Amino acid sequence: MKTVCCCTVLLLLVLIPTCCHGGNILVFPTEGSHWINMEILLKALHSRGHNVTIARASKTWYIKDNPLYYNTFIVPVEKGLVDGDFLKKVFSEFLKLERGTLPLASFLRMTIGMLDKIVDVHNSVSSFVPALLDNVELMRKLNETKFDLVLTDPCWGNGAILAKYMNLPLVYNVRWLMPEEAHFAIAPSPLSYIPMTGSGLTDKMTFFQRVKNIIFYLMTAIQSTFASKFVYQPLCEKYLGPDCDFNQIQNDADIWLMRTDFVFDYPCPTMPNVVYMGGFHCKPAEPLPDDMEEFVQSSGEHGVIIMSLSTFVNELPEDLADGIAAGFAKLPQKVIWSYRGPKPSTLGNNTLQVDWMPQKDLLGHPKVKLFVAHGGTNGVQEALCHGVPVVGFPLVFDQYDNLLRLQEKGGAKILTLRAVDTDDGFLKAMQEVLNEPSYRQNMQRLSRLHRDQPMKPIDTALFWIEYVIRHKGAAHLKAQSNRMPWYVYHSVDVVLFLTGAVMLTLLATVMFIRCLWKSVCRRKVKLE
Ligand SMILES: *[C@@H]1O[C@H](CO)[C@@H](O)[C@H](O)[C@H]1NC(C)=O
Ligand SMILES: *[C@@H]1O[C@H](CO)[C@@H](O)[C@H](O)[C@H]1NC(C)=O
Ligand SMILES: *[C@@H]1O[C@H](CO)[C@@H](O)[C@H](O)[C@H]1NC(C)=O
Repeated sequence: MKTVCCCTVLLLLVLIPTCCHGGNILVFPTEGSHWINMEILLKALHSRGHNVTIARASKTWYIKDNPLYYNTFIVPVEKGLVDGDFLKKVFSEFLKLERGTLPLASFLRMTIGMLDKIVDVHNSVSSFVPALLDNVELMRKLNETKFDLVLTDPCWGNGAILAKYMNLPLVYNVRWLMPEEAHFAIAPSPLSYIPMTGSGLTDKMTFFQRVKNIIFYLMTAIQSTFASKFVYQPLCEKYLGPDCDFNQIQNDADIWLMRTDFVFDYPCPTMPNVVYMGGFHCKPAEPLPDDMEEFVQSSGEHGVIIMSLSTFVNELPEDLADGIAAGFAKLPQKVIWSYRGPKPSTLGNNTLQVDWMPQKDLLGHPKVKLFVAHGGTNGVQEALCHGVPVVGFPLVFDQYDNLLRLQEKGGAKILTLRAVDTDDGFLKAMQEVLNEPSYRQNMQRLSRLHRDQPMKPIDTALFWIEYVIRHKGAAHLKAQSNRMPWYVYHSVDVVLFLTGAVMLTLLATVMFIRCLWKSVCRRKVKLE
């Protein structure tokens, strides 16, 4: 009995230091795949004893409540912030373009229409701000809990405005700031070697590729200016005072937890308050469910291929799904395909079609030889953590660029959907990646590099969130660059001043010499 008591006391002593520094954390999440990785962070925060509260709109698309891990504040809104159907439509247009069935002209029309739509989307998203701030009852309740910090994903501009209004330190879980990669907002980012997302370029660019990169930069800048000027700036002025500048508020976060790192991404300049947590969602593989383990073991020496496409894709066009299934059927490997659409007619007896698969446990299984993926950040980084080579079908957003980073490092092969439609492109690509050992070796090397860091990425993220709680922000890590107008940042004023000064000096010297010359000449003439 006594020893049990002793043990309990010891256990308590061990547990107390971790449990009692728990902070109150307020989260403004964004929808879609961004919620998936935010939730991972919330669960980790909960396990460290923090009291996590999310504030979400009453109508949601992807965000789910889970009282085991976090409290939920529901903000009544009239209509959902995100239109899932719109995203599906964009997706299917891209699919058509990829397969060459959508004429370029109508695609261009769509792209220009998108500019309009981007403002629409942000308008709809930002309706959350007045819905919360004008709701006195809800704000009073929020104010009652003394929150230590706000955690948000700045892909939407809401979180930054709300954090500033509530006067709380701000931590970002970030990769994108609206349309642009977050480094462009905070760190010096020379376009000569930092490729824009969507450009399909790497860090080694020819002259014309650099031209393309700058054109992409300008297009993105126009998009983000539209969204910030027409949507978020008016909100800022309404709630934070007339001199408030949204861009400044958006860049003023205390810590930026970036969902990337330099094993995955190209090296680039960074800032003191940027913390890299790429692969923070990677966990060691756990045992598979029995039936799946049996299926995997039945593959023998050939091993297993797994495939999963985006969360948006529940159904592919029938002929495309048939083409993929036919490709798999010709391989000696077993295949696990996570796909909710109807069963393709060409599905081989080596292929198991499932609604859902334990992706990380499979990727960590020694029998899994290849991952066929769409190139979303989460999946690509999981493949990297576990060292599994990838054959990728990029569709939209950053997917091509994510896969490109792996392909550059020799761990992946990118395909277009046309490769499935025509010849045996898909089959050949899979065979190449399966049979050429360099793909697996390269991925394993990246995996070793990824693991070789002093702390796990998730622990790094938690450390910095707690750091902000302990020190009530991290103002000492924020560079002054954010508080300057562009001409001061680039020293345009100083260059002009110095150029002027040099010109004046030169002019004065020339005048002086001319005068001197003239007077000397005059004297000579007189003498003669
Ligand atoms: C946790 O947060 C909720 C608000 O969501 C608050 O009501 C509660 O008092 C907090 N708990 C602690 C221990 O601070
Ligand atoms: C909540 O707190 C903010 C900032 O401290 C304050 O501006 C606001 O008036 C408060 N709202 C309510 C309803 O108490
Ligand atoms: C699977 O299909 C192949 C060829 O279509 C056939 O040779 C093989 O016997 C089948 N295996 C089983 C277990 O049905």
